[in-house]
Amino acid sequence: MWDERYAATEYVYGTAPNSFLAEHAHRLSGPVLSLAEGEGRNAVFLAGLGLQVLGVDASAVGLRKAQALASARNVEIHTEVADLAQFTPAPAQYGAVVSIFAHLPGSIRGRLYPLLVDSLVPGGLVQLEAYAEEQLAYASGGPKDVDMLMSLAKITQGFAGLEPVLLQHIEREVIEGSHHTGHASVIQFIGRKAI
Ligand SMILES: C[S@@+](CC[C@H](N)C(=O)[O-])C[C@H]1O[C@@H](n2cnc3c(N)ncnc32)[C@H](O)[C@@H]1O
Repeated sequence: MWDERYAATEYVYGTAPNSFLAEHAHRLSGPVLSLAEGEGRNAVFLAGLGLQVLGVDASAVGLRKAQALASARNVEIHTEVADLAQFTPAPAQYGAVVSIFAHLPGSIRGRLYPLLVDSLVPGGLVQLEAYAEEQLAYASGGPKDVDMLMSLAKITQGFAGLEPVLLQHIEREVIEGSHHTGHASVIQFIGRKAI
């Protein structure tokens, strides 16, 4: 499904970074692991800030566009085609893990999230934005499956190993490409691993 969506020449989520990521990027240190990176807009933005970035996604087509965007912007990013259901990040490796609209079923989150906490160095951050369960009422984007949508409780349970720096459920305008457009219900989270 994702390879098909990304086969279009347009960047379906745009080439500008996610606005929540951009607002808080000054907090992040590298190396950065960016989950479900897609067509590279966030990895390329972070690389432009001088951070080393590994973008992981199941779509080879998306990650080829990510590399093309990086070349066009004269930055280097690392990419890896992998299914997050099986992906195991190296432990104690990353200054930050970024997860922007990486909508995963509970069965994948339950295995992956503790591994993400393990993959952070002490003081490292997870930064996540995802559509909330209440997004089901809106037609502005996101999966139509409540299991893949987020809540404050799913974050606190999934990232129990992190101290929340910011955790909120808000409504905002998400204008990020042709598939994320309009008023939306989102969960935003920044969590820190203890030093
Ligand atoms: C809504 S897009 C978001 C892309 C990117 N994070 C952005 O904000 O522009 C969701 C991405 O999740 C990826 N994805 C979905 N399930 C996945 C899985 N099990 N493993 C790896 N990537 C996955 C898709 O390929 C797609 O690129």
